[in-house]
Amino acid sequence: MRTLVVDHPLVAHKLTVLRDKNTPSPVFRQLAEELVTLLAYEATREVRTEPVTIETPVATTVGTAFTKPTPLVVPILRAGLGMLEGMVKLVPTAEVGFLGMARDEETLDIVTYAERLPENLTGRQVFVLDPMLATGGTLSEAIRFLFKRGASDVTCICLLAAPEGLKRVEEGVGDAKVTVVLASIDERLNEKAYIVPGLGDAGDRLYGLAK
Ligand code: URA
Repeated sequence: MRTLVVDHPLVAHKLTVLRDKNTPSPVFRQLAEELVTLLAYEATREVRTEPVTIETPVATTVGTAFTKPTPLVVPILRAGLGMLEGMVKLVPTAEVGFLGMARDEETLDIVTYAERLPENLTGRQVFVLDPMLATGGTLSEAIRFLFKRGASDVTCICLLAAPEGLKRVEEGVGDAKVTVVLASIDERLNEKAYIVPGLGDAGDRLYGLAK
C-alpha cells in the first residue's frame, strides 16, 4: 500500500480551518470540497489514459483521453458525500457509485446497509472517498468489497488518518494495489475512536447533528 500525504500550503491552511471547532457547517462544507479537489489532483496522477487524435483550429494533434472503463468514484455514506463535489469537479466524466457502511453496535462488525455499484468492476480504477480513516474498519471492508467485484486498483482519498487505522488498512490489503491520499496523518485515536487532534465528527460538522 502506498500512502501519500499531500504537502502543500493550501492543503495545510484549509485543513486548519476545518479543524477549528468554531468553523460553521457552510464554511466547513465549502472548504472540505476545495480540499478534496486539491487531494484529487494528486490522487488521479496515475489514472489510466490513452492517446487521442484531435483537431485544433490550427492542426491535427495527439492529446490524452481517459481509458474506458472510466474511473468509478465511491463516497462512503454519510460523510464521504461531503467529498463528492470536490472530486467530480476534477473528473466530471467519472461514474459514481455509493456504499453505506456502519458498525453494528452489538457485534462491532462493519455492515453494508446501502450499495449502488456495478456488479462487475473488472479492470476499473476506483476512487473511494471517506474523510476520516480512524480505526480503518470501514475502509478495509470497502476495499475488500471493491476488489471482490473485480476492481483493478483502489485509491482512497481521506482528509485525515490515525496511524492505527492506516496500519490496519495496510495489513488488510496485503499485495493489492491500494493508495491512500491524505491531508494529514494525525497523532492517534482516543478512547472513543476519534482522531486526535482531528476535526471531530466529520458527518456532524458537514451536515449538523441530525442522525
Ligand atoms: N469519524 C469521524 O467523523 N471523526 C473521527 O475523529 C473519527 C471517525
